[in-house]
Amino acid sequence: MQIRAEKGKAEKFPCELLILFSFEFPEPLEGPIKNVDLEWKGFISSLMNQGDFKGELFERKLFYTQGAFPAKRVLLTGLGKRGEFDLEKWRGASSKAGQYLRDAGIKQFAFQIKKFDRLAEEELAEAFVAGLLLGVYQYNEYKTLEREKIKEIEEGIILGETAVELKSLNNGVGTGRIIAEAVCGARDLVNGPSNKVTPTLLSEKAQQIAKDHGMELQVLEVSQAEAMGMGAFTAVAKGSQEPGKFIILEHNKNKGFDTIALIGKGITFDSGGISIKPSEGMERMKDDMSGAAAVLAMMQAASRLQIPLHLVGIIPATENLPSGKAYKPGDVLKTLSGQTVEVISTDAEGRLILSDALTYSLRYQPKAIIDLATLTGACVIALGDYVIGLLGNDASLLKRIEEASEKTGEKVWRLPLWDEYFEYLKSDVADFRNVGTRAAGAIIGGIFLSKFVEKIPWVHLDIAGPASIEKERPYIPKGGTGAGVRLLVQFLRDWK
Ligand code: BES
Ligand code: ZN
Ligand code: ZN
Repeated sequence: MQIRAEKGKAEKFPCELLILFSFEFPEPLEGPIKNVDLEWKGFISSLMNQGDFKGELFERKLFYTQGAFPAKRVLLTGLGKRGEFDLEKWRGASSKAGQYLRDAGIKQFAFQIKKFDRLAEEELAEAFVAGLLLGVYQYNEYKTLEREKIKEIEEGIILGETAVELKSLNNGVGTGRIIAEAVCGARDLVNGPSNKVTPTLLSEKAQQIAKDHGMELQVLEVSQAEAMGMGAFTAVAKGSQEPGKFIILEHNKNKGFDTIALIGKGITFDSGGISIKPSEGMERMKDDMSGAAAVLAMMQAASRLQIPLHLVGIIPATENLPSGKAYKPGDVLKTLSGQTVEVISTDAEGRLILSDALTYSLRYQPKAIIDLATLTGACVIALGDYVIGLLGNDASLLKRIEEASEKTGEKVWRLPLWDEYFEYLKSDVADFRNVGTRAAGAIIGGIFLSKFVEKIPWVHLDIAGPASIEKERPYIPKGGTGAGVRLLVQFLRDWK
């Protein structure tokens, strides 16, 4: 979809469809919708007075204008109660409007932005475009039947009246698009089947990003990782015929910016390994590379937004399969940190591959390390699929993530990382085990990772719940969501 800002006024602009937003009755009409109402001899006011359009949140009604003004159709979209309005509702409303006109087969729309109270045009335009593009996302890669029924909007025009306003709109549209495209790229990877989305494919994606954005890329083969001492990553990778890859992508290398390491769990399929999972629902485990997809997306967005930071994206990528070469419960692994781990369950593989990635990141002396991982089913039990589990060793870093969460609507919730929990990981034969108790599973996963970050400020995001959802949300269709991308891009934009 093309989206551009253009000079114009809602009631004067010729287009296939004009989107008009309204707060819930009896809030008075204001701005573009009021001007259109005047031109339309009070048509919208009478609809509202009669209760035929109330302006309730996400309520939508389509009308033909019959030549009353240049737009051919109007889509009225409700924003709900004025006092409850925020950017999250706004993203939802733009998505709902977009989904309605896409499904109606309408190819073009216009919409005039209006400043709401404390929200500036630029952030409204950014959230509008992000909400819209995220909401109309569909994954049709492998559908071969009735492709002609797939509908897409072709063009959106955002109207502004002054040159100053147009400049803000253009900025907002640009940023919103970059972020939404990154999230949709992550969704494509998560929705992709594991016979296509292999560690090799992830490394090819990284290569494409490096080429397009002039980034540094290193891809270590399993044999190289082994020679370096990554005994945990390589133990997991060896059970599979599909070659594992340890991917390192750098944005703004050697430019003197603060360094931040972004680490994503890249298990392209998690069968559980020798500690094999029940077959029911196992197909969902293709999404166990959601952290990796998020890191690739963030690297791309950071470069397009010219974020002044040195970012090191690290992705340990492998399948987790049972085989004659697979690692086994009881095995003792030597991690890159030198610490040894007794394997209790080969299904707790995420923390193993991440432990080597965390240790590897230390060589860059980052100001912060952030990892994203579909790490534990226990986190889904604790928090459901709305919320990212947030754990870390540094109060100010945790707070920054929470601030980015407020702005983006990607919810996070803190879990404690008290050292008492380390008791559960004590091993008789090694420095620790890879599994503690079932109780507090998400926390114990975090405690395990904390043993590999030394004293560097670090945050762990357990995205096992929100990475992929079964029921759609206002601007998140079901399936892979791109969880963590908008959150962390905001965090990086706000870094000081
Ligand atoms: N990839 C899973 C976690 C997961 C579960 C993600 C459900 C999304 C939905 C992870 O590798 C895993 O299997 N974790 C185990 C850990 C346990 C053995 C300590 C789990 O959560 O059961
Ligand atoms: Zn697992
Ligand atoms: Zn896993």
